[in-house]
Amino acid sequence: MSDRIPRVSQYGSVDPAPPSNIGDIEIWKKSLIDDEIPMFQRMRNLFSLRNDGSDESCLALCHGFKSSSALLRHELAYVLGQMQNPIALPHLVERLSDVKEHIMVRHEAAEAMGAIGDQSIRSVLQEFCYDENPEVSESCEVALDLLDWCKTKEWEENNL
Ligand SMILES: [Fe+2]
Repeated sequence: MSDRIPRVSQYGSVDPAPPSNIGDIEIWKKSLIDDEIPMFQRMRNLFSLRNDGSDESCLALCHGFKSSSALLRHELAYVLGQMQNPIALPHLVERLSDVKEHIMVRHEAAEAMGAIGDQSIRSVLQEFCYDENPEVSESCEVALDLLDWCKTKEWEENNL
């Protein structure tokens, strides 16, 4: 396939940066919070961690929430939703619950919590359905509806 246009990832998405093929989990993890490294390179490393798919990579991405860049933190929340690993849930709850966090990050954390599909997270999402910021409250509604939809699907698969 031609490299003149970005490729579709293993997650079916066209990402803003192609995964890096040099480095390892520790190097990629450290780079996420290093403001000296250009954002494009940090994004490449972020997608390398996502594509690795292990628990270790997932936790390395969660560590990246210490980054000073709201854009990067938003992207982290998005890929954690794509990975669907419940190990990230406590970190996503923390981002959603932090009222000082950027709205874009809180919104993406809520949607990622829905995408992970773990019903145990419902009460947190219900709580933030009343957030004063519509970007946050609407994202929580969407996430809860997705969890409802998953529950119905599961019921149909077992009973119909
Ligand atoms: Fe978003």
